[in-house]
Amino acid sequence: MTLPHRLAEYDSPEGAQEYLEEYEKLHRKFSDRRERGLLQRFFRRVGPVESALDLPCGWGRYLPMLHGQGARVVESDFSGDMLKLSRSLFRGSPALGHLRAFGHQIPMADGAVELVFSMRLNHHLVDPEVRRQHLREVFRVARRWALFSYFDHDSVKSWTRRLRRRLGSKRRLKSTLSRGEVRALAAEAGFVVREDPLLFLIGSGPRLVLAERAPASPD
Ligand SMILES: C[S@@+](CC[C@H](N)C(=O)[O-])C[C@H]1O[C@@H](n2cnc3c(N)ncnc32)[C@H](O)[C@@H]1O
Repeated sequence: MTLPHRLAEYDSPEGAQEYLEEYEKLHRKFSDRRERGLLQRFFRRVGPVESALDLPCGWGRYLPMLHGQGARVVESDFSGDMLKLSRSLFRGSPALGHLRAFGHQIPMADGAVELVFSMRLNHHLVDPEVRRQHLREVFRVARRWALFSYFDHDSVKSWTRRLRRRLGSKRRLKSTLSRGEVRALAAEAGFVVREDPLLFLIGSGPRLVLAERAPASPD
C-alpha cells in the first residue's frame, strides 16, 4: 500500500519521537483530555477487559488506560519505530506482545481478543475502501467490544472543508465515513453501536465509537 506522506513520516525514529512531542502542545493536551474523558466513560460501561488489541498503538498513549481495565494488551502499528518507542517508554509495564501490521489487514484470528481499540487511524486512510476494510477488520478480530474513531462525513468540519474547496481552497478534503455507513458495517459484522459521540460538540469532526457484539438470539 502506498502511504500518504504524513503516515510514511511516522515510520521513522524522528517521526515517532515527533508524535510523542506533539502531546506537549496545548491544542493536543486539550483534545487528549476530552478524548480520555469520553474513553473513561466508555470503559466504565465496558468494565474489566481480559484481552485487547491496540492498533495503531503509536507510542503507547493508551497502554496505561488499557492496563487499567486489567487487559493483556497486544500493541500493533505499521511503524516499527512507534512499536520500539512504546517498548522503551513502558519498560516497567510493557504490552504482552508487539505486532507490526496494517489496520486493514490484521494478522489475527476472528474474535482473537475481547476488545479492539483503534484510535486516530481511520481518518488517515485515504482510500474509502481501505477505511471500510479497517472497520471490518476491527469487528472481525473483536470478540465483544470494538472501540474506534473516524471522521464524520456530515460533521460541520467536513461540510466546511467541502464548501471551501468549492470556493477554491487547495486544502485536502477530510477522509470521512458517514455515521450510517459505520452503523451498517457494524450491523453486517453482528455489532451494535452503543455510543458514538463527536469528540467536541461544536465544530469537530472525529467521532468516538463504542460498539458491542449483539447477543446471539435464542432459537
Ligand atoms: C495519529 S497516530 C495514533 C496513535 C495512537 N492510536 C494514539 O491515539 O496515540 C497514527 C498511528 O497510526 C499508524 N499508522 C498509520 N497508518 C497505518 C496503517 N495503515 N496501519 C496501521 N498503523 C498505521 C502510525 O504509525 C501512527 O502510529
